[in-house]
Amino acid sequence: MFSFSDISYGYTDKLSLDAINLSIQKNEFVCLLGPNGSGKSTLFKLLNGLIFPSKGNYIYNGTLINAQFFKNSMSAKKFHQQIGFVFQNSDVQLFNTTVYDEIAFGPRQMGLSEIEVITRVSDCLNLLNIKQLETRTPYHLSGGEKKLVAIASVLSLNPDVLILDEPLTGLTVQAQETIISIIKELHRAGKTIVMSTHNFNQIKNHPTRFIEFSENHTIILDKPAEIVLRDSNLTNHLALM
Ligand SMILES: Nc1ncnc2c1ncn2[C@@H]1O[C@H](COP(=O)(O)OP(=O)(O)OP(=O)(O)O)[C@@H](O)[C@H]1O
Ligand SMILES: [Mg+2]
Repeated sequence: MFSFSDISYGYTDKLSLDAINLSIQKNEFVCLLGPNGSGKSTLFKLLNGLIFPSKGNYIYNGTLINAQFFKNSMSAKKFHQQIGFVFQNSDVQLFNTTVYDEIAFGPRQMGLSEIEVITRVSDCLNLLNIKQLETRTPYHLSGGEKKLVAIASVLSLNPDVLILDEPLTGLTVQAQETIISIIKELHRAGKTIVMSTHNFNQIKNHPTRFIEFSENHTIILDKPAEIVLRDSNLTNHLALM
């Protein structure tokens, strides 16, 4: 589904990702771990086509993803419908005047009828337990409330792939459990999940694969979950990330 070959990226002349080789198959549940500044969010921005590699190739479902690809508005639209991205910083994501409109935005862009939009928004509000926020202005919400609305606004598009950059950060344990159970359910329903977190212990029993980034912006571990969970030194190490 996703394939990175020898990808490097620098915002400046300093590399934020260094020679990354990575393939992700359909219906994997991949969890990215690593220190602050190691390059996880940068990798997500590349996956979503928000930035392009300084070096190396990114192939999505057999197609080279580069600036040229996004010049075709049909293919760009299809790409963004298939891949839902929840940003680490919700303020970047939320721009509508009400929570309802925020969640309705994607379905409306897809051209769904207003009846279908109402159903989708209502399903997402209920799923995330945020019905009470429906008429509020996203900009005025608390950090945790914003995160839940941002997740709802992506789920309303019903994407094949969900990329979640630290979806658990800033939430109560109860809200974290809600998010984890939703992600698990979506994975079970056949979606591909790629997420990052600093909460290894909370998530560890669910992903199918763990990837660890180093301070040097390289991948230093890429292993199936069953191998990682059998190694207590490794799980202790990842719990510190
Ligand atoms: N817009 C930017 N301009 C310049 N440097 C940037 C920019 N965004 C990120 N960086 C740098 O790129 C490197 C990787 O950052 P990135 O945000 O990908 O890390 P991360 O692994 O997501 O960290 P965290 O766990 O704190 O979210 C860091 O050194 C960071 O300072
Ligand atoms: Mg990050």
